[in-house]
Amino acid sequence: MIICKSEAEIEKMRRSGHVVREVLDLLRSLVAPGVSTMELERAAEEKMKELGATPAFKGYYDYPCVLCTSVNEEIVHGIPSEKRLLKAGDIVSIDCGVVLDGYYGDAAITVGVNGSLTPELKKLLEVTEAALYRAIQAARIGNAVGDVGATVQEYVESNGFSVVREFVGHGIGTHLHEEPQVPNFGVRGQGSRLREGMVLAIEPMVNSGQPGTRVLEDKWTAVTADGSCSAHFEHCVAVTRDGPLILTQ
Ligand code: MF3
Ligand code: CO
Repeated sequence: MIICKSEAEIEKMRRSGHVVREVLDLLRSLVAPGVSTMELERAAEEKMKELGATPAFKGYYDYPCVLCTSVNEEIVHGIPSEKRLLKAGDIVSIDCGVVLDGYYGDAAITVGVNGSLTPELKKLLEVTEAALYRAIQAARIGNAVGDVGATVQEYVESNGFSVVREFVGHGIGTHLHEEPQVPNFGVRGQGSRLREGMVLAIEPMVNSGQPGTRVLEDKWTAVTADGSCSAHFEHCVAVTRDGPLILTQ
């Protein structure tokens, strides 16, 4: 069942989303060569506390951290580590979720370390973020979930990259993951119809090479099967009478 939220609930989700954005803005400013992904984790945990929010990921299916930090060929669910030092030319995807007053917020960004990215990686980040904003524009009353996925897939593939199939976006509200699943591929007009008050976490995961994935020994870190780099951007979006409303900005 897809749960539709009232205006008051959407307002609460906006507050959770605002916390997530503040944390991500801070982390973006901390990304630099020599910084470990565990330093980002600690900064995030402290900032969440300061803003009165509870981390959403830590303990979720026994996930050990408040952030997912996925570097280069890591797609999602990379676990922060003291040993993983960022270096110039890397890309790092930072995924962050919180609960505030019973409502979840969830968003992700991918950041280039030191701005010295190859043109290919720069394009990967631009295409993935643009795919997210295009998909958000498809989150309208009367459209289907398939319109959101098809929008991502068409844009990404027409730019020579590929979309991950094994991990998807999701509904969100009083739980981190609610129905419906929101794949980054699909057929226009197919899947659940979008109605007023639905809130979707739309999160394209885009590989610069082939779409295949595998999960590392740690049982969490998802990487590209071919070792190509992967980017991830995510926003929570409410479907409203006035069109899509981004809650995580
Ligand atoms: N943004 C991801 C998601 O929505 C993060 C979940 S990581 C987990 O699925 F650790 F919490 F599972
Ligand atoms: Co999510």
